[in-house]
This record gives sequence, structure tokens and C-alpha cells, in this order.
Amino acid sequence: MYIKNLTLQNYRNYEKASFSFSNGINILTGDNAQGKTNCAEAIFYLCTGYSPRATRDKQVIKYGSDSATISGVANSSYGDVKIDIKFSDKKNKEILVNGVPIKKIGELMGNLNSVFFNPEELKLIKESPEDRRRFMDISLSQMSKRYFYALQKYRKIIEQRNDLLKNPDKEVVYETLPLWDAQLSEYAEIIIKERLDFIKMLKPFASNAHSFITGGNESLEISLESGYIEDEYNVKDCLLRALTERVEKDIILGYTSVGPHRDDIKIKISGEDVRIYGSQGQQRTSALSLKLAELEIFKNRFNEYPVLILDDALSELDQKRRSRLIDRIKNIQTIITCTELTSELKTIENAKHFIIENGEIISEQ
Ligand SMILES: Nc1ncnc2c1ncn2[C@@H]1O[C@H](COP(=O)(O)OP(=O)(O)O)[C@@H](O)[C@H]1O
Ligand SMILES: [Mg+2]
Repeated sequence: MYIKNLTLQNYRNYEKASFSFSNGINILTGDNAQGKTNCAEAIFYLCTGYSPRATRDKQVIKYGSDSATISGVANSSYGDVKIDIKFSDKKNKEILVNGVPIKKIGELMGNLNSVFFNPEELKLIKESPEDRRRFMDISLSQMSKRYFYALQKYRKIIEQRNDLLKNPDKEVVYETLPLWDAQLSEYAEIIIKERLDFIKMLKPFASNAHSFITGGNESLEISLESGYIEDEYNVKDCLLRALTERVEKDIILGYTSVGPHRDDIKIKISGEDVRIYGSQGQQRTSALSLKLAELEIFKNRFNEYPVLILDDALSELDQKRRSRLIDRIKNIQTIITCTELTSELKTIENAKHFIIENGEIISEQ
């Protein structure tokens, strides 16, 4: 799967620009703040309907304009698909697939898949469980519409359940909770099962990617941490039991303290928790290994690699790791952004090189 071309209009600092990508490695270079990440962000938008940055849609409209458009053509084994996203300062964004407006974001997912990596993804290792759940959610939502819809429903029910927990009439709370929990556990089961499968698949790939990048010096282990799944074949009952056990505590807290919205991924290097004991370099490499493993899961599910977006990710690695990484991704469409064309990048065969300056492509070869 790859993106053939991308046109940006009044998008961020681009007035109008058209990229025609190679299905191999594409390198965008330029000084800081010229528009490299903006381009990477636009590709991610076409994949998921959202920005990989914590951004509101309207912020992408070029200062002084009232609308913006991202358009692109994706190619997969099913043929070409045209995707357009139109932003307006007056209404919500509109997404068109082959010229037809879609009603739900789920209809966009799967037309163009991507794995996005930038230095901020270090959060994936270092920061809160929320970042690790987000990793699973973005990845699984692209792979499975069932997951995506279950997640949306689950989140709504959790909100309602939390409101109920705060209701001062405890009789109402105890009477109504089982009704919510019955529904909640249906959707939770879908989410948990998909996550368990995902982590099971991710494990060998991540460990393989990690030893590849580190030259076999380190081993990486990952697992899903939930605190309530005692029996993987009966996750629904496990969750219902945990919810019941915590009900009094949750009433005091005013929120639901157990469930998929609290799950985490445990990541260890050679037996030690990377989050606590890992060096910055190890954390960085672990995050990258997870992303490379994600590529393999996509390949496994769809028989095609997604687009790999490496935004400013290379400068963070030493030269050996950079060369190994490039060697590994040479058969995958990759969008690399960086400030300079380093020696390993110069030697890639058939790479396409764009130079970006102030929201314009000033050279393309
Ligand atoms: N809505 C917008 N309208 C115009 N310019 C924007 C908008 N949003 C961001 N920018 C500009 O885009 C530039 C940053 O681009 P970015 O792609 O992040 O740079 P880099 O090339 O370093 O990756 C900044 O100069 C910023 O002011
Ligand atoms: Mg950038």
C-alpha cells in the first residue's frame, strides 16, 4: 500500500503544493519550521481522519484563509482510492472517498494505512498509560472497524457510567449499574480480545526489530497489563467481576477505575522495565521497535505494508542504528523528514528527495 500523490491547499504553511511520491523511500529535507512535519501530518490525516499532533482540525487552515484541503491518491491491492479532506472555519471537516462524502470516520479507515513515528513518540515509552493505549487504539482502529466502533461505544458508556457513579441517590446507582455493565462488558470484550491478539503478535516482531536495530545486544519484551484479566478465554466475566468488586471504591472516586480504558503495555529490556530503568537511547529504540513491529502486523493482516512516516526520527539514532533501520525499511514506502541529507540517505537507491522551503517544494528529484 502506498500514497501516490498528495496535494495541499491552504493547509498550514502551504498555499498550494503537490507531491508525487515514489513507492519506495521519500526524503523531505529543509530547515526548521519549513513545512516538513506539516506534510507528514497531512498524510496521517488521509489515513485516519485525525492529526497525529494534539491539534484541532481548524488549526490546520492557513492563517488568513477560511478553508483548507488535503487530497491524495492511495494505491493498494484493491486499486486506487482518492481521498479528500476539506476543512472549513465554519463547519466540521468533510471527508470524501472517491468523491463520495463519508458519514463515519470508520469508512475512511483502511483505505490508506500508516505507521507514524516522530521524537514525540518517545511518550509511548516514557509517559502515561494513555499514550500506550493510544498506540494500540490507532493501530487497531486502522486494522479493524469492529474495534473502532466498539471503542467509540465503550467510551460513551464509560462516560455515562461515571455520571451515574456520581449520582447522590445510591439506590438508583446500584439498580442501574448492572444494566450499564452488561452493555459495557460486551464492547469491552471486543476491545480486550483484539488488544490481547495485537500484543501477542507484536511481541515477537518487536523483539526481532529491537535486536536487529541494536545489533543483537538487547532483548525487548512486551505484555498487556490489565490487573483484571485472569482468564484470557473469559475476559467478560473477569471484567464484570472486577467492576463489581470495585463498585464502592468507584462510587467514592466518581469514576470507573478498571477496564480497557485503564489498560497498559508493559515494556521490558532484558527483564527491566524500560520506562523506569531504560536510558533515553533505549527508550527511543524501544519506541521505534514497537512501530516497526506494528508494520509487520499490518503486513500480516493485509498482505501489504502500510506507509511508514518517520518524522525527524533519524537524527535521534546513532549512525549504525540509522543504517540498519534504512536497510530494514527499503521495501516499504517511507516518508522521511529530516534537516539534512546524511550519508546513509544519499546512498539509498531510487529514493526521491524533496527540498521544502517556506511551504513550497523548491526541488524534487
Ligand atoms: N495554520 C497555519 N497557517 C500557516 N502556517 C502554519 C499553520 N500552522 C503551522 N504553521 C507554520 O508551519 C511551520 C512549521 O512547519 P513544520 O512542518 O512543523 O516544520 P518542520 O519543517 O520543522 O517540520 C511554522 O512556521 C508554523 O508557523
Ligand atoms: Mg518537523
